[in-house]
Amino acid sequence: MRGLSGKVGIVAGGGRGIGAATARRLSAEGAAVVIGDIVEEWALDTAQTLRAAGGKVIGMRLDGTSAASQAGIVAAALAEFGGLDFYHSNLAGGTEGDIDVLNCTEEVLDRSFAINAKSHFLATQAALPVLLERGGGAMIYTSSGAAISGNPLQVAYPMTKNALHALVRHVARKFGKKGVRANGICPGVVMTEAVAQHLTDDYVAGMLDAIPHRRLGQPDDIAGAVAFLASDDGEWVNGQLWHVNGGSLLRD
Ligand SMILES: NC(=O)c1ccc[n+]([C@@H]2O[C@H](COP(=O)([O-])OP(=O)(O)OC[C@H]3O[C@@H](n4cnc5c(N)ncnc54)[C@H](O)[C@@H]3O)[C@@H](O)[C@H]2O)c1
Repeated sequence: MRGLSGKVGIVAGGGRGIGAATARRLSAEGAAVVIGDIVEEWALDTAQTLRAAGGKVIGMRLDGTSAASQAGIVAAALAEFGGLDFYHSNLAGGTEGDIDVLNCTEEVLDRSFAINAKSHFLATQAALPVLLERGGGAMIYTSSGAAISGNPLQVAYPMTKNALHALVRHVARKFGKKGVRANGICPGVVMTEAVAQHLTDDYVAGMLDAIPHRRLGQPDDIAGAVAFLASDDGEWVNGQLWHVNGGSLLRD
């Protein structure tokens, strides 16, 4: 893709799953990548694998819910690679106990908002000043089709993803003239470790039946979309929530 070679990006929640696939794709496109993850070992291992393949990649512990930790990963990008061109805020978690609204506790709601909404706000606060200073750049956030599908089984997670959509539009509207683009990707079901471990064969077969495609999603499907949004090929895309889902939700 145009303009990724030589760029510097952060992938938060990049130790495994969609984030790790994205770091791999960005590195293959010639970008230098800082991988952050709350599970430091995953970040270090993924970075090591990508370095062994010739990439300029480092890994580090990131607690996305901490402003100091977010400042730390931005500082690491500057120190190690001399700049920052884009930030993929991808991390998610804290879904245990997130059930219907009558049975989801306040603690579960607060934890979900901290991990799945506040972390993206803090990522933006840490990265934006650097992007503005260099004359622009891209914020790319991972949302979910669950934000709009009407999920009867979870209440907090879809609420947080809708909060993220508001952040995307705010950043796009406020900073677009200064060269910053903010977009979100809403994956459908992607067979990452996190998802696959909860699904029975019957459930997977049912999901496959329901989508107008021959297969379910793979992390690389989302990685390609993130790379596009980070690249110069995506330079006229701003403020969008892009559904990448094999056609499972068909919408304007
Ligand atoms: N896999 C899917 O089907 C699917 C569908 C829709 C949306 N998504 C979204 O895609 C993104 C990635 O999902 P995934 O399936 O790869 O999940 P995953 O659990 O494999 O990846 C999330 C990563 O975030 C890290 N993380 C969690 N809390 C953190 C914190 N506080 N600070 C730093 N890192 C933290 C985890 O350790 C993990 O490595 C998430 O935003 C998720 O909501 C996934």
